Formats: sequence, C-alpha cells, structure tokens
Amino acid sequence: MPHTSCPLPLLPRPLESTVGAGEFTLTATTTLWAGPGLEAVAVWLQGALRPATALALTFDAESADIQLSLEPGLAPEAFTLEVSPARVVIGGGDAAGVFYGCQALLQLLPPQVFRSAPVAGVRWSVPACTVRDAPRFGWRGTMLDVVRHFLPKRELLRFIDLMAMHRLNTLHLHLTDDQGWRVEILRYPRLTQVGGWRRESQVGAGVDAPSDGRPHGGYYTQEDIREIVAYAGARFITVVPEIETPGHVQAALAAYPELGVTGAALEVFTRWGINKNVLNTEESTVDFFRNVFDEVMDLFPGTYIGVGGDECPKDQWRADARSQELMKERGIGTEEELQNWFVGQLDTHISARGRRIFGWDEILEGELSSTAAVASWRGMTGALAAARRGHDVVCCPDNLAYLDYRQSDLPTEPIPVSIPLTVADVYGFEPVPADLTPEQARHILGGQANLWTEHIDSPSGLDYMAFPRLCAMAEVLWSAGERSLADFNTRLEAHLLRLDAVGVEYRHATGPAPWQQRPGVAGRPETVEARAAHIATLVASISS
Ligand code: ACM
Repeated sequence: MPHTSCPLPLLPRPLESTVGAGEFTLTATTTLWAGPGLEAVAVWLQGALRPATALALTFDAESADIQLSLEPGLAPEAFTLEVSPARVVIGGGDAAGVFYGCQALLQLLPPQVFRSAPVAGVRWSVPACTVRDAPRFGWRGTMLDVVRHFLPKRELLRFIDLMAMHRLNTLHLHLTDDQGWRVEILRYPRLTQVGGWRRESQVGAGVDAPSDGRPHGGYYTQEDIREIVAYAGARFITVVPEIETPGHVQAALAAYPELGVTGAALEVFTRWGINKNVLNTEESTVDFFRNVFDEVMDLFPGTYIGVGGDECPKDQWRADARSQELMKERGIGTEEELQNWFVGQLDTHISARGRRIFGWDEILEGELSSTAAVASWRGMTGALAAARRGHDVVCCPDNLAYLDYRQSDLPTEPIPVSIPLTVADVYGFEPVPADLTPEQARHILGGQANLWTEHIDSPSGLDYMAFPRLCAMAEVLWSAGERSLADFNTRLEAHLLRLDAVGVEYRHATGPAPWQQRPGVAGRPETVEARAAHIATLVASISS
C-alpha cells in the first residue's frame, strides 16, 4: 500500500487529520473557555501562548473562541481538535487528552510560538482542520540517568517540558548508582552527604581512560522531588523512581559500608562500567532498603517503583562465607537465586503498599511475582519472555532505544559508544514482538528511550544525544496508524523549527557541529554484529 503523507505538520503523526478552508487567528480579543476539571490545562495553555504572542486569552463563557471540554466518548489521552475560522474546539477523553490537543494546537501555530519573549510581525494563525488522535501505548517513556552526570533541577524541569511537547508521559528517573546517590532520604542523610558527590570522573570509555580530577555531584532534596513530581504531573507525566539494588550500589556503600559484603571503606565510584561491590543480603540491609523505599513511595505517587536489578556480579556473594551461610539458612542454592530472593523481599514490601516493582530484565532470571513489570533492555528477549510469563513489559532494547549510543559512523561523533543508532533506526523500532499472541501482546505497556549519561556531561550534550532521536521514539510510541519514514522526515523538518525556537541544541542531520565534538576523548564503538553477539550471551539464561 502506498504511504500517504500527513496533511498537517504534527509530530507525532495523528491517526486522522483533514485540512479545511481558511484559518483561525489569535488576536487581542480571543477568549478561552474550559469545562469542569480543565481549569489547570487552560491556565497552562494561556501560559504557553503568552510569552511569544503577548496575548492574554481571557476566560469567557462557553461560546468562547477557544473551547476545551471533556468528551465522555473518547478514550483516556485521546483528543479531537477542530479548527474553523470562527473557533477552536478541543475535546479530550480526559484532561491529558485535552492537554495533548493543546500541544497539537501549539504545533499548528507558527514555530515562533515556542519562543520565550514577544515576537513581532507574526500572524498567529492556525489552518482550519480536524484532527482525531489517540496514543498507541500507555507507557511512552524516557529514562534519564541523573547519576553518572547530575542534571540540575532547572534542567530537569526543562526536559519535562520537552517530553510533554512530544506527548511522552513517563519519566523513569535513574536516581542511584555506583557513581552517586541523587535523592535525599531523611532517615539516612549520609546517602546524599557522602554518596551525593564523587572526587572525580572518568573521561571517555575504556580502562585506560583518564580522570578529570574535578569533583562532581548534586542531589534533589525531598522538596525538589515534590516539585519535580508536581511539575511533571501538571504535564501528565508520571515520574517512576529507580533505586538500584542489589548491584550498582557503591555510592550507598561509601555512605554506609555495613551494607556491603566486605564492609570495606569505599569511595563513591569514579569509574564507569560494572562494579563488583554489591549489597550483602542481611535482614538489616533489606530493612534499610525497605525504609528507603518507604520514603521513595511517599515522594512518588505512581504505580511503578524501580528496584534496578541489572548487572549484579555474584563474585562477592560466592567468595563470602556469611553470604553462603545466609543462602543455606534460606534454602537458596545459587547466587542467582539469592538476587531473586532480594528482589522478592522488596517486591513484598512495595506490593504491600499497593505499588508494583519495575526492574531491568535480569529480574526474569528467577521466579517473579505476577505484578512485577520488566524493562527489556538486552534486546527483546526479555520482552518476549516476560509477556509470555504474564508480566507487563516496557521495551527499551539497547540497539534501538539507547540514546547514549553514537548517532552515526562519523568519526566526529562525540565519545562514540556502541553501535550507530540513527533517527531512522529509532523510527524503525517496533515495540510489540510479532511472535506474541494478542493476549500476550497486551502485556507490552509501551517503550522508552534510555539516556545513560557516563559520556553526557552537560545539558547541551543531553540535547545533542536526545534530539531528534527522541522525536522518532515519541512517534513510535504514540502513533497507531501508518508509519512512513519519508513522511516523518518531512514533518520533522517543520518540528526542528520548533526545537530551534525552544533552544534545543539537537543534532543536525549533517553531523555534529565543531563545538558538539569531543576530539581526543576515547569512545568504545562496536559493530552491530559484535554487539548482538554480546547481548545474546547475556540473555542466554532467560527462559520463557
Ligand atoms: C542497563 O543498561 N544496564 C540497564
């Protein structure tokens, strides 16, 4: 079937859209009406339009020029947008749907609407049109690693706005790891006092990579987190916190050495890569993390609570007499089962509060309660296995969703890591494996792009790695209809003008600008074949 092009420059592509005759123009007398439950969305729209247009959009009666209302016939997050020369009518299945209709409206205005101060000489017109739209997936996510390089709160709020602009609705915040602990826990202040910063950082990839000799750190206070969660919530984004266990924990061990297997004094890790220092599995350590998760659950109201679970080397447990004794007492035969036991303890605790654990696909290497959700990162093997075993799944296969991977084969890509992952590659990602039955496929909640930040050490670097690949991911996760790369590329051209107006330092198709390169900093490029072979060895122990 030949592909049809979308008649409107919307990104993500809508299910249905038609262009009418004439246009609607915003003026000093344009009025706004919002139905019950939509006051906050209307205030957001006023705020989004005002800086560039300098128009106030005062509230008026139901017959106002721009009308926002809930439409009981529409599904959650779905919307309709009808623009005629006389008015704009946005209906949503819920407030989120109305919000997405407003985002579509902004995209139909001249791109200067995304600037932050009044722009003279622009007619603020929208083509007459009808749009009917609804998302394909309920989990449209981005994972941000704020550990390897801390993202200051103001930059995180900006990133949340960019996610909302792309109708992404889930922010998975990777808050703890070997190299830092970034969320204040009142009961254990040393987690951030000690674990919140490191002495220096590795620069580039590889065991011989130099260090910068410069302290790095930062963390979000509980007040910051409440602000971040509320700011995201006002933009219909759920923040899913992740506290890594039982590996990727050296920052916690630096703060509280008694949590470790050896009890040795450690510093917050200054190197990248997988680390052998893991948690011991004493009841007191499980209790410590129960207490941590209690504070985390008080801060983050969403259903899913990330417990980590990836890349936990078993060497220390194997070599440690006390760990072996605990295994024997618990009737546990292997170190893999010991990890599974640890995850199970957290699962019981988190489930008791009506929440669900969310972990990397390594947690499938043992028995798992049915409510646990899995992030499939080592290809799609975990997605297949989890869905077949009845677990909900978020797909983020590294070869298609890891936006820290280099963006092309160009030698000028900054600190080139792993395989080339282009905008077109991301656009080709299909989150539902063809081998699943329809019943199993319902377990695919959606997907997310993952931004690991070992080599992303500034907000500009984050812009460069995230955009425009995140635009492609947003369309993959939102658009249920036809997909055409050529059509996407045409709409992306219009969309990049919006990102220019916002001030996003995205990667241009021609490659990195000189100031986006990192000459002399070593990467770790791999071929697609070598990477696939490595992943295949990692997932050999997952069974469906
Ligand atoms: C991961 O990339 N270690 C989840």
